[in-house]
Amino acid sequence: MNYQRPKITVIGTGNVGATCAQYCAMRELGDVVLLNTTSRRDPPKGKALDMAESAPVFGFNVKVTNATDYEETADSSVVVVAAGMPRKPGMSRDDLLAANAEIVGNIAKNVKATSPDAVIIVVTNPVDAMVQRVFDAADFQKERVVGQAGVLDCARFRAFVAMELNVSPLDVHAMILGGHGDSMAPVVSCASVAGVPVDQLIPTERLGQIVARTRLGGGEIVDLLGTGSAYYAPAASTAKMVKSIVRDENRLLACVAYCDQEYDVGGYCIGVPVVLGAGGVKKIVQMSTTQAERTLFEKSLEAVKANVAKLRELTKPTEDETKETEPSAPTVS
Ligand code: LAC
Repeated sequence: MNYQRPKITVIGTGNVGATCAQYCAMRELGDVVLLNTTSRRDPPKGKALDMAESAPVFGFNVKVTNATDYEETADSSVVVVAAGMPRKPGMSRDDLLAANAEIVGNIAKNVKATSPDAVIIVVTNPVDAMVQRVFDAADFQKERVVGQAGVLDCARFRAFVAMELNVSPLDVHAMILGGHGDSMAPVVSCASVAGVPVDQLIPTERLGQIVARTRLGGGEIVDLLGTGSAYYAPAASTAKMVKSIVRDENRLLACVAYCDQEYDVGGYCIGVPVVLGAGGVKKIVQMSTTQAERTLFEKSLEAVKANVAKLRELTKPTEDETKETEPSAPTVS
């Protein structure tokens, strides 16, 4: 029998990328390749080797290697895009748009050339716009590109509710819609602790504070760290998405996905509930919300649209380029 483990490429070997790679290896989700094309010297190689050396201790049996060009990542099952600038204190995710748009556009073209059948998970911020950037830069089926945001935002909410009630975070369930910005739209009406609605367990005012803390959760960590942004929870959230894809788990997760008629989004990438499995997005689940939650979602969509307009202005092809390539909409399979 010729069994081949899935190949998981992580592009960008900073804190989020490296930590995600380690989690994927520890869970034996596949052979992990760390790609950093900008640093040809030793740090990424050192990180991959360091992780590989932890295998006997943790007891995992997959390969962790370093790559410096895309050829070595060819035919990946999943590609995690964690390259780009993280934010610093005082910056919003949107401040990263110009710097990261170019990086992510290049990555999209290279992944298309070397791993055309991969599912891409974008982590780079501002993530909703960066998922759109992947579609704009290279022609991928709409099911094959998702962004990591909602799993993290839900995790923060779940952790805060668990801390508040002193219950297991595993029993707290939540769904957050919208963009991964301070305008994200938590669907509090469906949040529960093992089926018991949270608004029966936490007074309204206190719940409002928890929602506000969730919205600003990324900034809270940026301020506390002082030198960069969160990575343990973002990396864990990304690894959970990788697992759902390579093991075909069909987890229902909040992911950034291309939506047209879904939620009346009209052709943008934004956080929605997704059944995630082999091949990427199997289904976008339509859920009902309260009118107030719907209004929040619409506001969040406006913020995402404004970012995408800026993105397209920044990445507008010159006249010569336009002749060669028409801007692409995601391929509908
Ligand atoms: C955060 C960044 C990673 O929310 O977007 O922490």
